[in-house]
Amino acid sequence: MKHITVVGNLAFTSPQFSLDDLPGSSGRIDVLCRSVNSAFLLSHGIRRDIQLHLILRGKGDPPKILTLDGGHLKHLNPDERSTAALIKIALKEGLGLDSGDIRRSTPGITIRRGDLYDLIEEGGFDPIIYLQEASRDIRGIESEIEEWLDKDPLFVLGDHTGLNRADEKLLDDLGASRISVGPRVLHADHCIILLLNEIDRVALKFREKA
Ligand SMILES: C[S@@+](CC[C@H](N)C(=O)[O-])C[C@H]1O[C@@H](n2cnc3c(N)ncnc32)[C@H](O)[C@@H]1O
Repeated sequence: MKHITVVGNLAFTSPQFSLDDLPGSSGRIDVLCRSVNSAFLLSHGIRRDIQLHLILRGKGDPPKILTLDGGHLKHLNPDERSTAALIKIALKEGLGLDSGDIRRSTPGITIRRGDLYDLIEEGGFDPIIYLQEASRDIRGIESEIEEWLDKDPLFVLGDHTGLNRADEKLLDDLGASRISVGPRVLHADHCIILLLNEIDRVALKFREKA
């Protein structure tokens, strides 16, 4: 299983936002919706081997971890509005959650209290990889990517404001490596597409060799 997390530094943890004005009313949940689209949607299907963990740190009842599991997801469409509606339902379900509780909102979507640290502590991920523009080029590490295929890697990305220093220190302390998907600073959702494309290519080559 491949795991991806996007940290929404301002993303509302309250369901009180407008589906008609996501960028202006939700702490940029639109960024997270686009990441959902990139993590799961193929032209004719869903990537079933992905779990996407959205960290929401914004107004309401922070922090929350919203997990979307490709193995069980239903009702996922390409438009941001309907994805935001699924997030809204999960946030409603997550109101008043005690620490340690996990609630399922719609098929394949769960919500719990927690931040990046909690996700990593509970997740058992190996390896942990921070996607960061000024780092090692993913194009030069094919054999490393091949190793990820049999593991449970976690890929960490920031939202439009990036990861903060404390997040970066946490990842460094945990021995996370850093990779870049290209020389320019890109949107998180575009990075996810590029990352999964590189993994797809290596997986195809690996299967052909086997
Ligand atoms: C829109 S960028 C954040 C930009 C942020 N305002 C900054 O200047 O640091 C969103 C996230 O995508 C990832 N990212 C952006 N460009 C990347 C690249 N070329 N390679 C790997 N990750 C990248 C990083 O995780 C970043 O936090």
